[in-house]
Amino acid sequence: MAKTEKRTTKKTHFGEQTVLLAEKQGLVNDVFHSVARRYDLMNDLMSGGLHRAWKDALVTAVNPPKSERDFALLDLAGGTGDVAFRVVDAGGLGTRVTVCDINTAMLDVGRDRAVARGYEAVVSFEQGNAEQLPYPDRRFDCVTIAFGIRNVTRIEKALEEARRVLKPGGRFLCMEFSQVVVPGLDVLYDKFSFNIVPTIGEYVARDRESYQYLIESIRRFPNQAKFARMIEEAGLAQVKVRNLSGGIAALHSAWKI
Ligand SMILES: C[S@@+](CC[C@H](N)C(=O)[O-])C[C@H]1O[C@@H](n2cnc3c(N)ncnc32)[C@H](O)[C@@H]1O
Repeated sequence: MAKTEKRTTKKTHFGEQTVLLAEKQGLVNDVFHSVARRYDLMNDLMSGGLHRAWKDALVTAVNPPKSERDFALLDLAGGTGDVAFRVVDAGGLGTRVTVCDINTAMLDVGRDRAVARGYEAVVSFEQGNAEQLPYPDRRFDCVTIAFGIRNVTRIEKALEEARRVLKPGGRFLCMEFSQVVVPGLDVLYDKFSFNIVPTIGEYVARDRESYQYLIESIRRFPNQAKFARMIEEAGLAQVKVRNLSGGIAALHSAWKI
């Protein structure tokens, strides 16, 4: 079989479905086009508001300078700008955030939110694929990605790109759903996520399938230790993991040295 043919028939997962590698991004894009306008409301409903506390933990870890010192953050797969706005609120006058997301519908919602908050000068919304970032080497002081990496087809490429665009001494922070580590909570969480979340999706966003995918994609994502190894393999150092809410979410951090 020719090399190119092999590449085009390579398979991956889209939730529980097996799909061609080349198909996955298009399917993920359809999900986020469909949920964009209801995304923020659904986040609150699906997590019972917990995503706010998790994002606060992420922003505390970013720890933007409170002074006028320049601080450039790239929020990858930043969607509707939630993390970006929080970092700007926490930082000083030199804090600037670039939200990079592949999906124009999510970015449009983010831009509207930035205008409503008067943040157009400090948060920019740019379309780009995490696997091939449209930025030069060593451009950012910090790279964050919240609940985005599990949607990326080639996770290892996105990690390598995050490393490439970080300045030496820069920090990588990734928040993602993970593996529950508290006995008993895993059973409850499974019941909630597989039964209740798609139903909320059906009634609130009129889109059961997209929320079914989101839950399935959480189950497919590597656990804390495996993902930590992937970050190391991408060349980032001093990888640490912090579980949030018993491992429902985890915050991985690492440095470019
Ligand atoms: C669950 S949302 C998270 C949005 C935001 N970070 C938050 O926490 O509210 C996942 C985001 O990943 C984006 N995404 C998926 N694949 C991507 C890729 N290859 N490159 C950049 N963004 C991607 C989607 O468009 C979507 O906006």
